[in-house]
Amino acid sequence: MIKTVFFTGITLIFFYIIWIHNIFAHREKYEMPAQYAKIADDVKSYAKEGKQLFEQNCQACHSVRYDAVYISSVQANPKLQTLQEKYGKVLPRDVYEAVFYEDLMALKQSFGKVPPDLSTIYLVKGKEYLFNFTLEPQKVLPGTSMPAVMTGRPEETAKIIAYLKSVAEPSPEEKNKRMLMGVGTIAYLIVMGVLLWLWRGRILRKMGLH
Ligand code: HEC
Repeated sequence: MIKTVFFTGITLIFFYIIWIHNIFAHREKYEMPAQYAKIADDVKSYAKEGKQLFEQNCQACHSVRYDAVYISSVQANPKLQTLQEKYGKVLPRDVYEAVFYEDLMALKQSFGKVPPDLSTIYLVKGKEYLFNFTLEPQKVLPGTSMPAVMTGRPEETAKIIAYLKSVAEPSPEEKNKRMLMGVGTIAYLIVMGVLLWLWRGRILRKMGLH
């Protein structure tokens, strides 16, 4: 009985930490006005426009490889299409970095480092950080070589974040699938546990121990 309570307790705490109060997840410290947070969260309405804004304002320096968006100089290179025919639209990272080494190094020459690929930046930094950094890079990261390209355009910045979110997060169908699999697995374990328990009782009775 004590054992049962103990293990149930441990299991509940485990799922509470993983699902509800994830102590390992990134905690935000940056402010973001609610009206812009709403835009950044609304992937369905704004991701598409955000992608266009990204192309206009960020793609000169940043790629989003998961979405087959490469820096402008690579995008203009005829080699890209040949490679995509061979490897698919999303090139393997090593292929991309090897073939377009010079493009990346040219950016490094200008900015001191290669501007990072932004495929998963949303998951790493969260929307509040991205909003503040993109609007005022110097304020958030003093001395950074990232230029302030979105000054005075908070709404468009929020749309770009919606786009980055759409790339970094699994699609709603994928999320549902994962949720279903998670719930299915746990339901299976519970059912099997109960069956084993009943079976154990039967065996004990057969042995005359119960
Ligand atoms: C002219 C080149 C250039 C453009 C255009 C540019 N960036 Fe950057 N970006 C950089 C460089 C260089 C860095 C690396 C800065 C550093 O680490 O100090 C950077 C870093 C970043 C980072 C990472 C910050 C961090 O904390 O590590 C994010 C996020 C980012 N940029 C977003 C954007 C977005 C969004 C746009 C378009 C609105 C954009 N950038 C446009 C050059 C650029």
